[in-house]
Amino acid sequence: MSTVDLAVQLGSLRLKNPIATASGTFGYGLEFSEFVDLSSLGAISVKGLSLRPCHGNPPPRICETDAGMLNAIGLQNVGVEAFLAEKLPELDRLGATVIANVWGDTEDDYCAVVERIGAERRIAAIELNVSCPNVVKGGMVFGNDPAALGVLVRKVRAVARRPLIVKLSPNVGDIVATARAAVDNGADILSLINTLVGLAIDLERREPKIGFTTGGLSGPAIRPVAVRMVWEVRKALPKIPIFGIGGIERTEDVIEFLIAGANAVQVGTANFRNPSLSAELVKGVAEWCAAHGESRVSNIVGTLKTRPRLEHTYA
Ligand SMILES: Cc1cc2nc3c(=O)[nH]c(=O)nc-3n(C[C@H](O)[C@H](O)[C@H](O)COP(=O)(O)O)c2cc1C
Repeated sequence: MSTVDLAVQLGSLRLKNPIATASGTFGYGLEFSEFVDLSSLGAISVKGLSLRPCHGNPPPRICETDAGMLNAIGLQNVGVEAFLAEKLPELDRLGATVIANVWGDTEDDYCAVVERIGAERRIAAIELNVSCPNVVKGGMVFGNDPAALGVLVRKVRAVARRPLIVKLSPNVGDIVATARAAVDNGADILSLINTLVGLAIDLERREPKIGFTTGGLSGPAIRPVAVRMVWEVRKALPKIPIFGIGGIERTEDVIEFLIAGANAVQVGTANFRNPSLSAELVKGVAEWCAAHGESRVSNIVGTLKTRPRLEHTYA
């Protein structure tokens, strides 16, 4: 149907379209291959990989909220070795563009996973999760402190041989400070946002609904926060490529992120409700562009028109 050019360029990472799936919400991609032609997506960010396999947190690990969900999975995964041996060959055969999402308890852990990936050509980029709220060590401990984040990113950059995405935490007062720390120390691309720390309570038991006590809030409830943060980072760092993430469910949500300044997006929690959504959004974005006379999706990026903020006046 469409003559719309959907390709997007994020530094050296070229994607056939701006729709990727977000880490932890799309398994290793393979679980979704009966619902989605994986080769039709811009990219798949796989479940966060650690050096050793990890069992994650004790249950309950998920609960529904009014406009999203709270989770504290605790980064359960098969480990980088099993991923490379058992998952990656099949992803490659299916034509998927793979982003390896990576985490660790310590700086050395992060570096070890990234070194193990090395110059693996079947991995298009590495995404550092420095923003998981559901672990006691690592994760958000790095992502919420610009100085600690800067040191980690510099160490990882020194050993990384693929494009480096740094995934930012929204649980900060100033998202631009952590964005800048990541970019100044070698991030090629930013992705934002991870989940917001939340608490849901079982009233009868007077206990948290989640075993870890707090969990990460995701879904439509967080979208305006995510769009605002993408816009702030885009204004402060006009050249850095950005993946926008948070509460995307419809074509219009994708367009909103692009206008705010994201070059591409990642679809998360909505995959649980509709496992073929990501492929539908690729089509939806092409149709939206065609209907709005846009021949290239990248032309939409960062086109938000803001009005000057006027001071309030009194009667
Ligand atoms: C169940 C679940 C597991 C997640 N696991 C990871 C993970 O392993 N690594 C990571 O960087 N982000 C993880 N995330 C965060 C998502 O990738 C995404 O940043 C967040 O959910 C916001 O997007 P959404 O509102 O579209 O879900 C997870 C989110 C959920 C809901």
